[in-house]
Amino acid sequence: MAHAHAGKSGSFKIGGKIAINRLGFGAMRITGKGIWGEPADREACLRTLKRLPELGVNFIDTADSYGPDVSEHLIRTALHPYGDILVATKAGLTRTGPNQWHPVGRPEYLRQEAMMSLRFLGVEQIGLWQLHRIDPKVPRDEQFGLIKSLLDEGIIAHAGLSEVSVDDIEAARKVFPVATVQNRYNLVDRTSEAVLNHCEEHGIGFIPWYPLAAGDLAKPGSLLDTLAKHYNAAPSQLALAWVLKRSPVMLPIPGTSQVAHLEQNVAAVDIALSDADFAALDQEGRAAFQRG
Ligand SMILES: NC(=O)c1ccc[n+]([C@@H]2O[C@H](COP(=O)([O-])OP(=O)(O)OC[C@H]3O[C@@H](n4cnc5c(N)ncnc54)[C@H](OP(=O)(O)O)[C@@H]3O)[C@@H](O)[C@H]2O)c1
Repeated sequence: MAHAHAGKSGSFKIGGKIAINRLGFGAMRITGKGIWGEPADREACLRTLKRLPELGVNFIDTADSYGPDVSEHLIRTALHPYGDILVATKAGLTRTGPNQWHPVGRPEYLRQEAMMSLRFLGVEQIGLWQLHRIDPKVPRDEQFGLIKSLLDEGIIAHAGLSEVSVDDIEAARKVFPVATVQNRYNLVDRTSEAVLNHCEEHGIGFIPWYPLAAGDLAKPGSLLDTLAKHYNAAPSQLALAWVLKRSPVMLPIPGTSQVAHLEQNVAAVDIALSDADFAALDQEGRAAFQRG
């Protein structure tokens, strides 16, 4: 059976240069519990990764800290050499155990992690490298300065930020071109609405993490549930279709360790969400967000 192709989500050029299909893949879920160690089913994770190019998914988001290193190693095992796939990675969070994440933004540490990602991914240059968190204990300009050095030296081709404000983006843009911003965003979490609008204004790719979340909106009998039935889709697919329609700079990276879920997520590109349904969901999502 012919399967949906991520190309239908439209394309976006990272840093105005690297063309990717907008619907990407988040590789945080191909690790052990608490994003720590090897996954329970390594073969299933490898199968999921190998299915990506067949479905037209050519944008993968990972990080040094996923595992740590487990995600990058698996991606290399499954997909190297990468062809037209852009493997974007991140650094700036250290791990002291399952579910524990601590920002470390000292320039020498960030440089070490970028160099390690080059080795683990088996590439001569990282197409997109993102600062996972701005470390509040280190002046942000020092962290931005290191990113500029990585760009100038060709270790990375493009750079982005994660969990930042408009003010952070503007401060960073004085030091290096910000290609992407990765903040949590979904139908019911609109904390980053202003950041998204800012990204759209400046042609910066906005990568919403946790894009599948729909909270209570997905409950039986809810608007999302009713619309999902109308579109013959799962509520999570509709949540994804909504995010994709929200902005042309939106690059969602739903994460999964299972081929069946990956296929279902990619099939969201076939949902032609009407403007009226988009607006109704938008309103419900905002109301749910405001209720907290
Ligand atoms: N920058 C940051 O600070 C940051 C933080 C968190 C995440 N991220 C990135 O964003 C990506 C996505 O975020 P996320 O993984 O938190 O959220 P998500 O993609 O919205 O949700 C992932 C969860 O949903 C499940 N799932 C996926 N597809 C499904 C489907 N079709 N049906 C039912 N369940 C499904 C997955 O489990 P299964 O494996 O069982 O499918 C997993 O538990 C991550 O992979 C990572 O690359 C970035």
